[in-house]
Amino acid sequence: MIATESLSKRFPRVTALDRLSVDIGPGVTGLVGANGAGKSTLIKILLGLSPATEGSARVLGLDIATEGAAIREQVGYMPEHDCLPPDVSATEFVVHMARMSGLPPTAARERTADTLRHVGLYEERYRPIGGYSTGMKQRVKLAQALVHDPKLVFLDEPTNGLDPVGRDEMLGLIRRVHSDFGISVLVTSHLLGELERTCDHVVVIDGGKLLRSSSTTDFTQTTTTLAIEVTDSDAHPDGTAAVRDALSERGVETHHEGAGLPGAGHILLLTAAGEETYDLVRDVVADLGLGLVRMEQRRHHISEVFTTDTTDTAEGSGDEQRKEAVGHGG
Ligand SMILES: Nc1ncnc2c1ncn2[C@@H]1O[C@H](COP(=O)(O)OP(=O)(O)O)[C@@H](O)[C@H]1O
Ligand SMILES: [Mg+2]
Repeated sequence: MIATESLSKRFPRVTALDRLSVDIGPGVTGLVGANGAGKSTLIKILLGLSPATEGSARVLGLDIATEGAAIREQVGYMPEHDCLPPDVSATEFVVHMARMSGLPPTAARERTADTLRHVGLYEERYRPIGGYSTGMKQRVKLAQALVHDPKLVFLDEPTNGLDPVGRDEMLGLIRRVHSDFGISVLVTSHLLGELERTCDHVVVIDGGKLLRSSSTTDFTQTTTTLAIEVTDSDAHPDGTAAVRDALSERGVETHHEGAGLPGAGHILLLTAAGEETYDLVRDVVADLGLGLVRMEQRRHHISEVFTTDTTDTAEGSGDEQRKEAVGHGG
C-alpha cells in the first residue's frame, strides 16, 4: 500500500521526518508517535500535498513526487484539524466532496446518504455543521474521506477530542471501514493503547525516525509471560522450587519474579509458547500435589516499546498501563 525510502522533511528549524523507510501493507495500520513526531507531515507528503526534502515514496504504486493527483483520487484523507464549514449541513458538504472527487450528481447523493448512515449520522445530517458536537464533526470528517470509495484512507488523529465512549465508537467504525468495505486504513494517534486493539500493524515513529514496525500480535502476544504461584506442602516445603525443577526437567525454564530483590522468589515467570504450556503447568502442579494460587498472563503492551528494557517488565505490564500516553498528552 505504502512504501517510503529514506524519506526526509526538513523545515528551517526542525527535521520533521528523518530518513524514514517503511513498508505498509493492506489492513489497518496504526501510525503512532508523540506530538511532533512527524505523523501529520508524513501523511501530507504521502498525499503529494507537501514535497519531501529527500527520499522517495509510493502510495498504491504511485510516485508521490509526480502522481499526487492520481494518489488523491484513490486515497481518502481525514485531516487532523477542524476544517468543516459551519454554515452548511453534513449532507451538502459530503455531496460537495464527492462531486470534487469526480462522482456524478446522483451517485454523489446516494453515496453520501450511505456513508453518513454508516458513520452514524441520521436526522442531524440536514442541520448546519456549526451546531455539531466534536464527535459528530469527526464523523463528518470520516464520511467525506470515505464517500468516493477509496482503496486506502489516511485518518489523522480521528479520536482527538472524544470522550472514552466516543473514542471506542470511532475505533469500532475504523475497524469496520476495513472489515465491511475492504478499505485499508492508516490511522494516527499519540496514544498507544487505543490502537493496539484496532490495528493489525503498528508503526512507531519518534522525532521523524522509525522506531518500530511490526504486527500488533508481535508487539503483544509473542512475548506473553506466564506468572505462576503455588502453595507449599508437607512433601514439598518449598513448592515454588519443586515446580521450578519439575518444569525444568520438562524443558521449560522459569525465573523468579524480581530475582535478586529482597522477598523475591515466590512467583515464577516463564514464557508461554501456547496452550500446551498452560496444560503442562497445570499437570506439573497437580502431580506434585500442590495448589495453584495463580496462573496469569503478563501480557506485554505496545507502550513497552518506549521503555528501554522489555525483557522483564512484568511489574508494569498490567492493564492500568493500557491507556498510557506516548508523549505529552493531547
Ligand atoms: N509547516 C511547518 N513548518 C515548520 N515546522 C513544521 C511544519 N509542519 C510541521 N512542523 C514541525 O514538524 C514536526 C512534526 O510535526 P507533525 O508532523 O505535525 O507531528 P505530529 O503530527 O506527529 O504531531 C514538529 O516539530 C512540527 O513543529
Ligand atoms: Mg499531527
